[in-house]
Amino acid sequence: MENGLADALDTAWRLLVRAAADRRSPMHTPVVATIADGAPDARVMVLRAADRAAASLRFHTDARSPKCAGLDGAPVTVLAYHPGEAIQLRIGGTARIDRDSAAADAIWAQATPFARRCYLVGAAPGTPLAAAGSGLPGWVAGRKPAEAELVPARPNFALVHIDIARIDWLHLAQGGHARAVFCAADGWAGEWCVP
Ligand SMILES: Cc1cc2nc3c(=O)[nH]c(=O)nc-3n(C[C@H](O)[C@H](O)[C@H](O)COP(=O)(O)O)c2cc1C
Repeated sequence: MENGLADALDTAWRLLVRAAADRRSPMHTPVVATIADGAPDARVMVLRAADRAAASLRFHTDARSPKCAGLDGAPVTVLAYHPGEAIQLRIGGTARIDRDSAAADAIWAQATPFARRCYLVGAAPGTPLAAAGSGLPGWVAGRKPAEAELVPARPNFALVHIDIARIDWLHLAQGGHARAVFCAADGWAGEWCVP
């Protein structure tokens, strides 16, 4: 059994912060679930940052992707499981799309040319293709783009911030599972509940 609610919340944030920094963490690629046209949708995304003080997570995406449409201000759930720690986190919050800020510019500038190359695809993710392919223009396939070549890709890049309202923490253990729910509304004090 966990020592206390504060420890459980500390563990959740420790795992999230590490997951953002460490691509080998199983929580590096959580599932991000949204509602689109009244139906649930979900996809794996790379967790780029976890900020406890701001109670937020950050992801990167193509601003033209279907998931971005109507997502600004919409409810989101981020689902992650760490098998080694036997901890599941279900994180509820509100999405904020940031395409144009100085922060987005700075993060774009720091990304590798190969990471930024993805945003050179000519059409929105999900656009039908005649045959299997990346959608990248032929001139950049298989090579590193130069800085000048990446300029047209910048408008396609967006940050997705999740402002967290709720963290549902579940720890599986042979001696007995444990579960706690933490809400921003009550100052993250938390409450144990039946797993
Ligand atoms: C391991 C992995 C990591 C991924 N990371 C991202 C990501 O960081 N951002 C993103 O937009 N899509 C990412 N994807 C692709 C999404 O899962 C999804 O297929 C794509 O974004 C289209 O989603 P949408 O149709 O809901 O917009 C990743 C997929 C996998 C398998």
